[in-house]
Amino acid sequence: MKAELEKEKVSEEVILESLNWRYATKSYDKTKKVSGENWETLQQAMMLAPSSFGLQPYKALVITNPELREKLKAAAYGQAPITDASHLVVFAYKKTLTDADVEHFIERTAEVRGQTRESLADYEKVLKGSAKRAVDGGYVETWNSRQVYIALGFLLETAALLGIDATPMEGFDAARFNEILGLTDHSAVVVAAIGYRDAESDWLVNLPKVRYRKEELIETI
Ligand SMILES: Cc1cc2nc3c(=O)[nH]c(=O)nc-3n(C[C@H](O)[C@H](O)[C@H](O)COP(=O)(O)O)c2cc1C
Repeated sequence: MKAELEKEKVSEEVILESLNWRYATKSYDKTKKVSGENWETLQQAMMLAPSSFGLQPYKALVITNPELREKLKAAAYGQAPITDASHLVVFAYKKTLTDADVEHFIERTAEVRGQTRESLADYEKVLKGSAKRAVDGGYVETWNSRQVYIALGFLLETAALLGIDATPMEGFDAARFNEILGLTDHSAVVVAAIGYRDAESDWLVNLPKVRYRKEELIETI
């Protein structure tokens, strides 16, 4: 890992142009697929999202099976991006946090950083304490599901920078999604369809974005 970025940063102009270009695409061109290279970058972007303590208490399920996607569409009020976009990601948060989850994370930390398990013992205790507090306090699902939205944000922004369309979707029946996908430890919370817009048939493509005025949204105190 380099301490400093060696390449030039993306220009402010490109960032804002891309973010203005993106919109929650309603109609996808079924024939256009995201390239393997772009898809790899999008996956890396999701993986590079930060999470509380780095615990990554979620999964991103990439649904490639067309029959499954049909079933999911039916459980998502028939939203067309579910079947028509090139790729579909279902984000599912972990319903609890156990000691085993923390241990798994500590093992991975030791592996990646070349540290011993023993040297991480104090940290492990802190994490187990936080996990237990979240479970006992009844907010573990809220906490875990929040983390998902950071990965979603990374995915959406990276897609926009690559000129790839995306639709975040919460409009689905989570219980039915869980059943269709056989999820038990996890629960579906938000979906992202990824692909290329069909500008001809999308009613939203030319409508201006609706955002509050800056002073209403951002308060500098
Ligand atoms: C968490 C979340 C859930 C959303 N759920 C849906 C959805 O189920 N269906 C849909 O068409 N758009 C959905 N949207 C898109 C929003 O309506 C859209 O992002 C918002 O109106 C702002 O417009 P823009 O994304 O085009 O800038 C969702 C967006 C977010 C962030």
